[in-house]
Amino acid sequence: MKNRIFFFTGTGNSLKIAKDIAESLTECEIMAICKNTDINIPTGFERIGFVFPVYYFGLPEMVADFIRRANLSKKNAKYYFAVAVPGGISGKPIVQMDRLLSEKGLHLNYGIKIRMNANYIISYGSISLYYVTAMKAYDKRIEKIIRDIKNMETNEIEKYSKRIEKIYLNCICNVHNMDEGYNISDRCTSCGICTGVCPAGNITLNNGHPIFHHQCECCMACIQHCPQKAINYRDKTQKRKRYTHPDISYTEISKYYNNLQS
Ligand SMILES: Cc1cc2nc3c(=O)[nH]c(=O)nc-3n(C[C@H](O)[C@H](O)[C@H](O)COP(=O)(O)O)c2cc1C
Repeated sequence: MKNRIFFFTGTGNSLKIAKDIAESLTECEIMAICKNTDINIPTGFERIGFVFPVYYFGLPEMVADFIRRANLSKKNAKYYFAVAVPGGISGKPIVQMDRLLSEKGLHLNYGIKIRMNANYIISYGSISLYYVTAMKAYDKRIEKIIRDIKNMETNEIEKYSKRIEKIYLNCICNVHNMDEGYNISDRCTSCGICTGVCPAGNITLNNGHPIFHHQCECCMACIQHCPQKAINYRDKTQKRKRYTHPDISYTEISKYYNNLQS
């Protein structure tokens, strides 16, 4: 394979983008960033890319942690790119990624943001206005991004902000325990979908009852993909509409997270 894209997702937006980019590149494999992702990365790629949602104006902790631990050097690829997928106010995810790569002597050649539907259901309901505008703009924006990546274009990386970093660090340090606020209603049918879509392997079934193990990444996948709306955050989400990307199924996400993709 000549190219590799690593993605992380909760509700499918980032996987959709990773797939759209991969389709346009010859020989491109897609790999999930999840609990068991191999940090030993083969050398000799033309391009290595990262596609991920924005969390608290920065990177999901699992993505940041993967970059910190991964064996990445100039030998792995000629060209590094990142596509951040915010739902609203995007903060500084690109410069954060660039700074993490710079600790390995690397530099992000190209970093870009593309807005999709906001999925942080524990704070707000599905924002249909954002959804409509983001989706309308999607085709045009992704077309340009794909063209840039194909041509190995470079761009200027956004400026670092200490203030944004402070906000990010204050929020991200709590994610693993966010599941303390989750509850399971008696609508649960023990289907196990929540266990499959969790990138952290944070959920197991005990006599059919989902148990959370405080390794949560706060990606919202369990809440959003549950067909019964049986998983909720405190008393906040019971009445809120669920969102998952229309082109991405929970089965597909589960396959990636469980290394079953063909
Ligand atoms: C924990 C969490 C924090 C988020 N923080 C932000 C944010 O700071 N800015 C933003 O624009 N979107 C934020 N979002 C929204 C997601 O970045 C956005 O909906 C993204 O497209 C979801 O991608 P996915 O479907 O690949 O998971 C947040 C979502 C979650 C779950």
